[in-house]
Amino acid sequence: MLSKVIQDALNEQVRIEGESSQVYLAMASWAEIQPGIDNVTSFFYRHSDEERMHMLKLVHFINERGGFAVIPSLPQPQLTYPSLKNAFQQLLKHELFVSESINKLVDIALQHKDYATHNFLQWYVTEQIEEEALARTLNDKLELIGDDKGGLYLFDRDILSVSVMGGSE
Ligand code: FEO
Repeated sequence: MLSKVIQDALNEQVRIEGESSQVYLAMASWAEIQPGIDNVTSFFYRHSDEERMHMLKLVHFINERGGFAVIPSLPQPQLTYPSLKNAFQQLLKHELFVSESINKLVDIALQHKDYATHNFLQWYVTEQIEEEALARTLNDKLELIGDDKGGLYLFDRDILSVSVMGGSE
């Protein structure tokens, strides 16, 4: 049975994962109306789906352990971006924020000696390592490309092969 403190902390993470899904869905919709970045668009849509999966995993865990998962209302995310580079910078920033929040959750689980929750959260810890690494790689690539159109073409082509995000359920 989940304690109230753990349940509330997990529900806060449900909100954060739901919000992440919305943020990346907005990035996808913005990318879809930009010329020549079809694969980047698919990447954002896929990423949004994966964040929803992260949220659902938490929802099931809370409910299966005798708690109640609260489906949150969400603020409207940023709708447009000054550049693709800026969108990916924000993606990295957002993932760093999510990692911090997961780490806090792990801490709370340990403080309250909830080892089942602690064990469950390890999947998220591993996932965040992958997501941060990928976001950094993509930011580094965009930094190198600068304003080079050919580089952007290759970036869009190569992002097709990126499948690390959330791929290890
Ligand atoms: Fe579920 Fe990308 O954090």
